[in-house]
Amino acid sequence: MYKNWSNLYGNPKWFIDSKFGMFIHYGLYSVAARHEWIMTLEEIEETKYRRYFDNFNPDLFNPKEWAKLARENGFKYMVFTTKHHDGFALWDSKVTDYKVTNTPYAKDMLREVIEAFRAEGIKIGLYYSLIDWHHKDFTMDGYHPDRSRIDLEVEKKKDMKIYQEYIKSQMKELLTEYGKIDYLWLDFSYESKTWGDLKGKGKDDWDSENLEKLIIELQPNIILNDRLDLKRGVSTHEQYQRSKVDSNQKIIWEGCQSLNGSWGYHRDNDNFKTPEMLVKILVDTVANDGNLLLNIGPNGRGQIDEKSKELLFEVGKWLKLHQNSIYNSSGVEIQPPLDCRYTMNGNKLYLHIFSWPYRTLTLKNLPKKVKFAQFLNDYSEVKVIEAQVLNEKRKGESNLNNELKALHIKEKLDLNSIIIEIPVKKPDTLIPVIEIIFEEE
Ligand code: GLC
Repeated sequence: MYKNWSNLYGNPKWFIDSKFGMFIHYGLYSVAARHEWIMTLEEIEETKYRRYFDNFNPDLFNPKEWAKLARENGFKYMVFTTKHHDGFALWDSKVTDYKVTNTPYAKDMLREVIEAFRAEGIKIGLYYSLIDWHHKDFTMDGYHPDRSRIDLEVEKKKDMKIYQEYIKSQMKELLTEYGKIDYLWLDFSYESKTWGDLKGKGKDDWDSENLEKLIIELQPNIILNDRLDLKRGVSTHEQYQRSKVDSNQKIIWEGCQSLNGSWGYHRDNDNFKTPEMLVKILVDTVANDGNLLLNIGPNGRGQIDEKSKELLFEVGKWLKLHQNSIYNSSGVEIQPPLDCRYTMNGNKLYLHIFSWPYRTLTLKNLPKKVKFAQFLNDYSEVKVIEAQVLNEKRKGESNLNNELKALHIKEKLDLNSIIIEIPVKKPDTLIPVIEIIFEEE
């Protein structure tokens, strides 16, 4: 049913059913507080970037709080940045000095994060950047912070083979010293990019085939994303929504979304999505058979800012009442009414209403007879008028009872359609959902 299922090594069922993951971007850039690409956006030299290393001391960092917040608000897995493009390792790596244990914080942050999230029953994903602006053998390209300070002598001496071995050594540490890792999120390939003589990087630069082999050898059940440039793995879309695809094209995919456009903590960026938009993104993703990986970027003290917490809380509050339509459910082929999204879970169809219509909605091409319909937020009945009943009554217009007359239904409906009657006032929840329970066959 999923085109790329066989490209994934582990069984992705847990992943497909989970639907909602928490992305956590944390690192030296959280101290700069101006986007996680700050080193290259401002072309900061290594010696200057060092100040974030020297001042890295998140005194209020409490991963148990992060993990509790994640569980309480419905997240089923997490993905934590073990190393971002700046090359800084958030664990006690033996192959570099550029690591968290050498900062004033001095502890293995990754271990603390993993333990806390596991304790809350959340699956563990690790983000690892293939790009590394700190490693001395990482060759120059147009994303590199030193791109306007190229020293050809230095470049000549660089050897990507050494860097490839470094990636493998770090991968061994990450995949052997922290127990079961459920998901590995490598970032990213840009093979086709060019900047004058400078070229982007892809599978030959990372030695992707061998790297992938090693990963599978170390963690045979791991789920891998698609950024190794091998054209397989979970497809990871960034900051946009996929449009509806037909079931032959169905792939395992994950949309990753930030709260405000930046992944790392960005103090002055107030471009936050609204809670309603976030719920819509989640629903739209699930209706299209994907997962949502929603990001937080804790600040230099290790805290999640109030605004982000509030947004997660609002999504979580909605999810608590509407989880039946999200977890373990999937998209449906039939076309929903305008401004609505369908998901299906077993014998139940879920109608998510993005824009509140007036009094009736017509649902067409339903696969079975409807037994009952109710709002998920309060389990209040929603009246269902079957096409058959309506058509029959219409044969003699006078037989149409007043109730139906008042709805002004003029359409002649196919027998597998129903009309549902909804209140004038939208239920008090971000996105109302109607659960439609079918008759068992
Ligand atoms: C990108 C960015 C990076 C971010 C990631 C999240 O590839 O380079 O900063 O971590 O996407 O999807």
